[in-house]
Amino acid sequence: MNPVDSQVKCCFTSKIVVNEEEWVQVEHLCCHRDCDSHASYTAYYSFNKEKPDGHLDEDGNGEGKSHMDSSPALGTSAPGKSVRIFGMETSPAEFKEFDTSSLEFIKPDNPEKMWIRLQGLQNYKNTSQRLRCLVKQLEKGEINVADLKKNIEYTASVLEAVYIDETRRLLDTEDELSDIQSDSVPSEVRDWLASTFTRKMGVMQRRPVEKPRFRSIVHAVQAGIFVERMYRRTSNMIGLTYPAAVISALKDIDKWSFNVFALNEASRDHALKFMVHELFTRYDLINRFRIPVSSLMSFVEALEAGYSKYKNPYHNLIHAADVAQTVHYLMLHTGIMHWFTELDILAMLFAAAIHDYEHTGTTNNFHIQTRSGVAILYNDRSVLENYHVSAAYRLMQEEEMNIMCNLSKDDWRDLRTLVIEMVLSTDMSCHFQQIKTMRNTLQQPEGTDKAKVMSLMLHAADISHPAKSWQQHYRWTMTLMEEFFRQGDSEADLGLPFSPLCDRKSTMVAQSQIGFIDFIVEPTFSVLTDLAEKIITPLIEEASQSETIFQPQSLTNIRTTPETNRRHSVRSVPSDGGCSTEYSISTVDLKCFKLNWMDIIQQNKEKWKELAIQDAEEKIRQKTEQNKNNEHHKNNDHSTENVIAAEDKISVGCDEEILERKSSPTKSLVNQLSIAANNSILQRHLHTASCDSLSWEHDAYPAETLIQHGPPWNGEMKHIKDTEETVNNSKEILDYKVTFIRN
Ligand code: CMP
Ligand code: MG
Ligand code: ZN
Repeated sequence: MNPVDSQVKCCFTSKIVVNEEEWVQVEHLCCHRDCDSHASYTAYYSFNKEKPDGHLDEDGNGEGKSHMDSSPALGTSAPGKSVRIFGMETSPAEFKEFDTSSLEFIKPDNPEKMWIRLQGLQNYKNTSQRLRCLVKQLEKGEINVADLKKNIEYTASVLEAVYIDETRRLLDTEDELSDIQSDSVPSEVRDWLASTFTRKMGVMQRRPVEKPRFRSIVHAVQAGIFVERMYRRTSNMIGLTYPAAVISALKDIDKWSFNVFALNEASRDHALKFMVHELFTRYDLINRFRIPVSSLMSFVEALEAGYSKYKNPYHNLIHAADVAQTVHYLMLHTGIMHWFTELDILAMLFAAAIHDYEHTGTTNNFHIQTRSGVAILYNDRSVLENYHVSAAYRLMQEEEMNIMCNLSKDDWRDLRTLVIEMVLSTDMSCHFQQIKTMRNTLQQPEGTDKAKVMSLMLHAADISHPAKSWQQHYRWTMTLMEEFFRQGDSEADLGLPFSPLCDRKSTMVAQSQIGFIDFIVEPTFSVLTDLAEKIITPLIEEASQSETIFQPQSLTNIRTTPETNRRHSVRSVPSDGGCSTEYSISTVDLKCFKLNWMDIIQQNKEKWKELAIQDAEEKIRQKTEQNKNNEHHKNNDHSTENVIAAEDKISVGCDEEILERKSSPTKSLVNQLSIAANNSILQRHLHTASCDSLSWEHDAYPAETLIQHGPPWNGEMKHIKDTEETVNNSKEILDYKVTFIRN
């Protein structure tokens, strides 16, 4: 058991609130009976706006400065008036000094940093309180050396963790995007990653820092009492009849290789309906939350209609069904479902089902650029994601679709909070921040924030197709590209610049997929696997202990509080009543899980590399053809001039190219494209080189311009259009390059 919980009984907690007037309210509360420092006090701090350094004023004369009043009177302290300390044995002066010195460097002009800092301070504060309690117990001779040692070790580990975390936060201001400066990534792909998966280059601000968490080691110390999760068939199943083909398509629902396209065909375009019904049944959610089956059916049918509204090639009901199945797989095979309550599971599956509801087939940036109604409604922030949740909840306001009608008020509220957080985190501009936060979490000794883990699982499922079989991944990629290209067509019609990957004539699909796998998918699955390990390891230990304890009992009879309403074992009973599979926590094999996705993404990357080479060869062939046709029309003098100019520019990297070319002509081409892409002088030319000659007119935002000015959609960038001459030069250079490579 954790030393802190077993020995130091002081439960000093602090709560930090920043109110509208920019007062920081710090509540300290110790409510333990045995602890001498049983007390509470509330402190209010104000940042003196007049003082640019943000120091707290200590003179106690009011006027928007912090004060301290050690009066023992009970009551609330008025913000800005005083700090009151109630019955605190610890010297008020000590606390005042501690708080003041801790907060003095916080700058009021950076509330985000302030929040982060306050969170860090919280840990220091709690740890210091624990130490004070220890001292008191020592004074009374109530603690033995072994316990003392354990507690001191724990305290040291908390301080170390805070130190590491704080240091990282101070130093590591860059997103993980720095990794993408790698020479192997074409600038077009890099710009796409930067503009899509971070908020750095986009118009949107980072979301405010998460609220302070006060959970300590909750999950680690939760009693290891579980209830078997019954996957039972329910009488409610009569709500939906499963055709034989659907039953057959669903038989692999617990597998990574599950084919959602087959289910969609078997169900005649109702993959989502069957998926939701099947999973809700398997997890017994229909019974547990008394979901009226008729409402469920109406609701899911309305969802399907919404997903079909814009006839999107990618963001349709199949994608929703796919994400729901993938979330199910992740819960099951990472073992994280054993950590979840039934409400968490309901939230996960529900969020997966609605997460792209009524997707317009266009990106957030497109909405922002075109000033669409939803962009205006949601102030350009996570426009689509906000819309998906809101619209799905609006559906449930119709009585006949109100599937959550029998949830308790608390459950309804908790579910909504989780669903909103999860779906909003599917906004890809949160990606790098999300991964970074979760990596930091891995290094904390404390418990893991469940809502954040759930969000990561949904995000992982949402981008999981590159980790699925090549057939599935390729199909998803092609449908997604078609959706992007349709947006590009609209952008061209509207006279807008192409968004990344939206120009059907120039997008480097294979290259972008390699970048997406390397920089987005792999890190996401990697951190998810590590988190799963952190979460389930203690559960496995608890399970093995409680198995011994509860062996004679039937697990089914053990009921616990809702918070500990977890089960050791899951029996997956398909709706067709076929064979059941036992999924107990002890059968979870994370190594196998990891090897599987790693192996598949590697294979998919290899396939994309082959295709990239084929693409490049095809481009060479086309350009050579074109070159030959154009040759006799060319003005010889003009041509020679261009070749000389191009030769100067292209000389960078030539030596490597010649060496490479000797060993592998096609590899050489791919490398040359990459090397040249990273040469800022050549970028504009190469960008054109990667385009079909007809598309250059749309090429208003070449890579180097994006790097220097940010993406076109931030509204500040000046449109820098190539002059006719430069474009002609680019074409010449392209021709030259092709000839160069050929020879
Ligand atoms: P959405 O499903 O709303 O959320 C995840 C996003 O990731 C998805 O939209 C796409 O915009 C993006 N995405 C998914 N798969 C790929 C891929 N293979 N290549 C590029 N972008 C992708
Ligand atoms: Mg989405
Ligand atoms: Zn999605």
